[in-house]
Amino acid sequence: MAGNRTFTMIKPEAVAAGHSGKIIDMIISAGYRIVALKYTHLSAAEAGTFYEVHKERPFYGELVDYMASGPIIAAILEKENAVEDFRKLIGATDPSQAEEGTIRKRFAESKAKNAVHGSDSDENAGIEGNYFFSGRERF
Ligand code: RTP
Ligand code: MG
Repeated sequence: MAGNRTFTMIKPEAVAAGHSGKIIDMIISAGYRIVALKYTHLSAAEAGTFYEVHKERPFYGELVDYMASGPIIAAILEKENAVEDFRKLIGATDPSQAEEGTIRKRFAESKAKNAVHGSDSDENAGIEGNYFFSGRERF
């Protein structure tokens, strides 16, 4: 079952711009089942913990401020080959490199403000989903 789940966030600028519904529609249309879903607002400390793997990168401070700048939507998604297929659905980190039809091509503002997060491994999908959701919030 582990390989069939990924974790996503709709990032603050995409929520603020009113893109949440269209993004969720693209996700469901691509065959994902929503296991868990939450509208929440990360503190800077929480955003820092979530992206701790990037703490040595030059963009870390900017990333933390951005992810704490407004509410986000977090979700656990289920589909066969979820992690890899979802990375294809969202497209490249930099929207100028993202393929047509991807979520980032359509909705990302920039490489930094790129509309959505997608887990990069089954292990991280599990860790990230557990960070946001208890057992009784999953269906
Ligand atoms: P994510 O983790 O959010 O799904 O994004 P990703 O795997 O495609 O990219 P990653 O390398 O993990 O970077 C995490 C997030 O940091 C911001 N970023 N800004 N200004 C920059 O050069 C830069 N590079 C990365 C983006 O918000 C990216 O999604
Ligand atoms: Mg990443």
